Amino acid sequence: MEPKIIDGKVISAQVKDEVKEKTAKLLEKTGVQVCLAVILVGEDSASQVYVRNKKRACEYVGFKSLSYELPECTSQEELLELIEKLNNDDTVHGILVQMPLPKHIDEKTVIDTISPKKDVDGFHPMNVGALCIGEEGFVSCTPAGVIQLLKRSDIEISGKECVIIGRSNIVGKPMALLMLRENATVTVAHSRTKDLADVVRRADIVIAAIGKPKAITADFIKEGAVVIDVGINRNLETGKLCGDVDYENVAPKCSAITPVPGGVGPMTIAMLMNNCLESAIRFSGADI
Ligand code: GUN
Repeated sequence: MEPKIIDGKVISAQVKDEVKEKTAKLLEKTGVQVCLAVILVGEDSASQVYVRNKKRACEYVGFKSLSYELPECTSQEELLELIEKLNNDDTVHGILVQMPLPKHIDEKTVIDTISPKKDVDGFHPMNVGALCIGEEGFVSCTPAGVIQLLKRSDIEISGKECVIIGRSNIVGKPMALLMLRENATVTVAHSRTKDLADVVRRADIVIAAIGKPKAITADFIKEGAVVIDVGINRNLETGKLCGDVDYENVAPKCSAITPVPGGVGPMTIAMLMNNCLESAIRFSGADI
């Protein structure tokens, strides 16, 4: 059977176009101009690319973006002061500090300092807790993007066996909570899981977020399963991107699968835009 290829480029463009339309409506109705502040500390080249793409997406959807590119030697105190200033600025709706940070800065302290109301990354413990107990808050962008990929591809989640491989704070754990919220039966597998292949073979929906190239091979996959690949691994020899899933061999067994690149990747920024718009709508009190 030919699997359905879930196209993250098309679906992320849909999400961004919806955000663009609502952003214009919010401005027209209330005069509120959505604004995202992006902070980058140091010279990490991958982070510079991510930040450039985030600024570009802001332009596309009609947000104002404030960009703070700080030198590597910035002290933690200086960074926290900037965050406090942005927390208190009513014209700013989202604050994003690009990770990883230089070693002398404690990421947890930085995340805890961002106002939960402006934490459009969904990393603050208040937002993680809200997700856990089903209250309103910001959800981490990559797992939120996976839910959109499934829903907009008409893939039923309710009642399905879902196996998530990986338990990170920004993907695996929030992914499990979101799938639970959608009424899936959820298993979280990880590096200490015994007989990983046996566990994954139970799944109707497999979500791989391990960070190991091609770790999920065809023998892990039940015939007809849906496979979502969150991995982005760069082959150091060829420079090519590859996922956590051995796509070529897994795809023929699936009913649907995401490619890498062009699957989950483009969804992250689209959901960031969506979170930032949501924040501005909440601040404005408007009904958009
Ligand atoms: N670094 C890698 N991914 C992310 C992300 O989603 N948000 C932030 N702030 N930093 C990152």
